[in-house]
Amino acid sequence: MADPRKDFKGRSFLKEIDFTKDEFVTLIDFAAELKAAKKAGQPHRYCEGKNIALLFEKSSTRTRCAFTVASIDLGMHPEYLGAGDIQLGKKETTEDTAKVLGRMFDAIEFRGFSQDDVEALAKFSGVPVYNGLTDKWHPTQMLADFLTIKECLGKLDGATLTFMGDTRSNMAHSLLVAGLKVGLNVHLCGPKELHPAADIVELAEASAAEGGGKFLITDDVAEAVPGSDVIYTDVWVSMGEEDKFAERIALLTPYRVTKDVMDATGKPDAIFLHCLPAFHDTNTVYGRQIKEQFDIDCMEVTDEVFRSPAAHVFEEAENRMHTIKAVIAATLGEF
Ligand code: CP
Ligand code: NVA
Repeated sequence: MADPRKDFKGRSFLKEIDFTKDEFVTLIDFAAELKAAKKAGQPHRYCEGKNIALLFEKSSTRTRCAFTVASIDLGMHPEYLGAGDIQLGKKETTEDTAKVLGRMFDAIEFRGFSQDDVEALAKFSGVPVYNGLTDKWHPTQMLADFLTIKECLGKLDGATLTFMGDTRSNMAHSLLVAGLKVGLNVHLCGPKELHPAADIVELAEASAAEGGGKFLITDDVAEAVPGSDVIYTDVWVSMGEEDKFAERIALLTPYRVTKDVMDATGKPDAIFLHCLPAFHDTNTVYGRQIKEQFDIDCMEVTDEVFRSPAAHVFEEAENRMHTIKAVIAATLGEF
């Protein structure tokens, strides 16, 4: 088994395929340990005096707050740099920015559009870089999701997760490739027009071989849902695609997570997860606009499912902090 206090030193966390099943599970178990320490009030300042830059090209509630709180708990100073704050690619290349940040900070978190940017930051900064979401992957979210599944079901190996909705989004890519890697069976259920590209399916095959699970990519809800232990969904329109609401509502309405979908799992203890934010009611600016324009009260999940005992979305959100703390501590910590 990998050692969380030794085997990750100096590494970046850019995409799931860079880590083995054993390493993934080690980080999840380390996060559970750090969560217990936090709840017991035991200090765990493994990164005392270090500095982390938090780069956000896109907005964030959970990822930003998780990195901020986790790094402070570890004894670090986090510096938030939003889209308008630094040059990154506008007036200065990502390479040059990386070289500057690497001379001042001990680690960098990046959320943005391009996977190439986060990879370039890692290549040129010389310090660990953490992917806080790109258009292609959302790897820190995976650790939180799998910790939550382990807490709820007591296992990962052999459990079946069905993702419903936009199956070529960052979340679908990550759940497919990382879920298979840690031993889940993963079903992606959405319209054919939004099925993942061939390179992602190839990575899924390699992950399935490593983790031992099976995968299914289908447009048929009746094929995907029965037997599922976890029903997962995400927004139908990801950040940067805000012109696609009409198209996505037309394509994805049959894939909304409703009580009928939860019942169709055939498992009374099936859980519902969502990375959040979620469109489950009309109490947001977008929610009201969508109601006015399309006359619907929710998008990817009904309010009934979102507020049901099957939903563990807020534990999942909390686990972002514990799992991100595990990644920072494992890659930078002194024990
Ligand atoms: N799930 C997630 O990444 O949330 P934020 O966009 O709020 O960071
Ligand atoms: N697919 C979503 C995930 C948000 C956490 C997006 O990229 O906006």
